[in-house]
Amino acid sequence: MSFKLIDNKSTFSLITGLVSLILMLLFISFSCQSPQPVAPVTQSTTQPAVPATQPTPPVSQPATGGTVSTVSWTPDGIITQGEYQKSKSYGDYEINWSSDNTFMYIGMKAKTAGWVAVGFGAELLMKNADIVEGYLSDGKAVVADMFSTGEFGPHPPDVQQGGTNDILDYGGKRENGATVIEFKRKLDTGDKFDKPLVKGVNKIIWSFGADDQPTNKHVTRGSGEIDL
Ligand code: HEM
Repeated sequence: MSFKLIDNKSTFSLITGLVSLILMLLFISFSCQSPQPVAPVTQSTTQPAVPATQPTPPVSQPATGGTVSTVSWTPDGIITQGEYQKSKSYGDYEINWSSDNTFMYIGMKAKTAGWVAVGFGAELLMKNADIVEGYLSDGKAVVADMFSTGEFGPHPPDVQQGGTNDILDYGGKRENGATVIEFKRKLDTGDKFDKPLVKGVNKIIWSFGADDQPTNKHVTRGSGEIDL
C-alpha cells in the first residue's frame, strides 16, 4: 500500500517535471524568436531611402502651371523624365512639350555649344515665323521672343518691333556638349508678333547654331510639328 503511494508520488513528480520541462522549452524557443523584430527595424531604416529620393523632383510649378506631367515643370535646364508630356527628336535636335488650356512649356535640347530655337507659323522659309531662341551668356540662359520679318530673317526681338516679350519663365544649361533651353508662354499671347497656338497639331521650324551669337546662321535646321 505504502509502496503504491510512493509510486503515485513519483509519477506525479515525473509529470510535473515533464510539464515544467515543456514550459521551459516553450519559454526558451519563444525567447529565441524574440530577436526577429530586429529584421523589421533594419527594413525600416532602409525604407526611408525611397522617400528620400522623392523630394528630388522639382516642386515649384503646380501653383502657376498645372500641367498633367508626372514631374513638375522647372526651367532649370535639365529635362527630367516625366517633366514633359511629349517629345520628338529630329537628329541632334530634340523638342519636349506640355500644355494645358492656357500655357505651354517647351524644353529644347540640341547637341551643340550654341543657340537653339523653335519657330511657329512660318510661311515661306522663315518668313513671319514666331521664333523663340535661347543661348547662354556667361553661363546664364538668355531666351528671346522674336519674329522673323523675311524668308531668311532677320528675326529681331518682338520688343524691337513694337511687340511684347511673352516668355513668362525660362532657364537653360549647357552640359555634356548639349544646350538645353526651357521656357513657358501662353498659347495665345495676344501679341501680333506671336502666332496663336492651338490645342492639337501646330507646325514648327527648328534650328541650332554653332555658337552663342544669336544672329549667326544655324548649322542645322528643319521643320516638324508638335501636338499640344
Ligand atoms: C540666326 C539667324 C538666322 C539666319 C541668318 C538664317 C538664315 C537662313 C537662310 C539664309 C536660309 C536659307 C536656306 C539655308 O541656307 O539654309 C534659312 C533657312 C531656314 N531657316 Fe534660318 N536663319 C536664321 C535663324 C533661324 C531660326 C531661329 C530658325 C528656326 C527657329 C530658322 C529656321 C530655318 C529653316 C527651317 C530654314 C529652311 C526653310 C526651308 O527650306 O523650307 N532659321 N535660314
